[in-house]
Amino acid sequence: HVAVLDFGSQYTQLIVRRVRELGYAAMLYQPEDIAEIGEPGAIILSGGPKSTSDEDAPDIDFEKLKSFDVPVLGVCYGMQLLNIKFGGSVKSSNRREYGPAMLKPNDNVGLYEGISHESQVWMSHSDTVNELPENATVLAANQNGTPVSLKWGDTFYGIQFHPEVTHSHEGNRILHNFLLTAGELAPFHIEDFKREMIAGIKEKVGDKQVVCGVSGGVDSTVLAVLLKEAGVNMRAIFVDHGLLRKDEGDEVRSNFHRMGVEIETIECSGLFLSELEGEGDPETKRKIIGNLFVDVFWEAVGDAQMLAQGTLYPDVIESASNEKSKASVIKTHHNRVQRILDLQEQGKVLEPLAELFKDEVRELGASLGIPADILNRHPFPGPGLAVRCPGVVDEKRLRIIRECDNIFISRLKDHGWYDKVWQAYACLVPVKTVGVKGDERSYEWAINLRAVVSEDAMTADWVELPYQILRETSHRILNEVDGINRVLYDVSTKPPASIEWE
Ligand code: XMP
Repeated sequence: HVAVLDFGSQYTQLIVRRVRELGYAAMLYQPEDIAEIGEPGAIILSGGPKSTSDEDAPDIDFEKLKSFDVPVLGVCYGMQLLNIKFGGSVKSSNRREYGPAMLKPNDNVGLYEGISHESQVWMSHSDTVNELPENATVLAANQNGTPVSLKWGDTFYGIQFHPEVTHSHEGNRILHNFLLTAGELAPFHIEDFKREMIAGIKEKVGDKQVVCGVSGGVDSTVLAVLLKEAGVNMRAIFVDHGLLRKDEGDEVRSNFHRMGVEIETIECSGLFLSELEGEGDPETKRKIIGNLFVDVFWEAVGDAQMLAQGTLYPDVIESASNEKSKASVIKTHHNRVQRILDLQEQGKVLEPLAELFKDEVRELGASLGIPADILNRHPFPGPGLAVRCPGVVDEKRLRIIRECDNIFISRLKDHGWYDKVWQAYACLVPVKTVGVKGDERSYEWAINLRAVVSEDAMTADWVELPYQILRETSHRILNEVDGINRVLYDVSTKPPASIEWE
């Protein structure tokens, strides 16, 4: 396999992902665990936020690294570290070079075989290599003639830019060229990965009881099925806060039944609705729901021996809560609240999906036999329909949203558009306007339809749905749903709009 040593860059896991996309097995390690990486076929040292001149700059056991006798690629910080290890030096700078730069390879061989004469790459660094050791050759420079790629001896390579981000246009090819210098590498199969995960879970859990929260969403579903597959003594808890879509509770229960996983439902819609009563401020609504959810879940958990979470890699890297991790804290996610961090410290939190990205989780889910319709469900926000009901939330409004949403989604499914969009839903616009229904004047609310495509929910674009779908949806809503006399379609991109309305 390819061992990726993590010096704390925000992009480290992307390197792992790219290597897997190229078809090779890859695993992430902390540099101090270098003795545990087994028999790698190639090693990649990631970038990182520190400067090699910092007092607490992460280091590497260079003798051990050399002893593997396999190709090594240092990226950014990794390259600077290698240059120092070989006897060169690094120039510190306070100015960060961030963004696109031009890569000019000296030759079209080895790392740069088939790479354009001038290729856009992505930089994110402040230090640069300074003096080069005797065994170093410069493989490429940037537009100013500064060396941005080195080779030391026969098997050590360094690159200043980040080949793993898509803004480095030929980054994948460069990574691939590096891996080709390694000879035969173990292929990546999600099946192998699954086997390793299951073995790891068994070892960590033993006969302890594990509690996991399920929502019907992809991550928690894959997690629960994985735990079942590992034969873990598990309690799967589903909190129904009453802010779910039409018949969603039943749907989630029947889906888990289909997969042979028993779940416990905690029905507490009354509690949530009464706590939300009269509250119109979006942030206050979110806080009420978030806190109540944790309280209810925690009460159900009791004194469980372990807690499993469907945390994915992006959550981990953004929270940087793993104390060994060298990444900077960007923001703290909901599954990183203090109570969970305390449990984590005691070794009681299990996060088997934490090395994966969403699409890899879907692939894992498929290999676990989870039906496609479950894996392809659209994302749904934790606070549920409350964020699709601007202002105060009550039963009447929720009923209207549920009916309209159900009609819209059924139209998308019937026309084969559900799987083509990232997320689609109906939300209430609680503004009354005048209309005519039958021969009577109507004075009712509007409903808004939203359908977006996105890669990671950070940015999104509205979808040019066929008029036929909009027409059928609108027609049915206006005829079937009491309280609505107007249907709108949201044509806002994110940014500046968000996907949800609150
Ligand atoms: P926004 O509205 O921020 O949404 O553009 C981006 C994506 O995140 C979902 N979302 C949430 N998911 N808890 C969640 O688990 C939340 O509080 C939450 N708020 C928004 C939203 O549905 C979209 O997919």
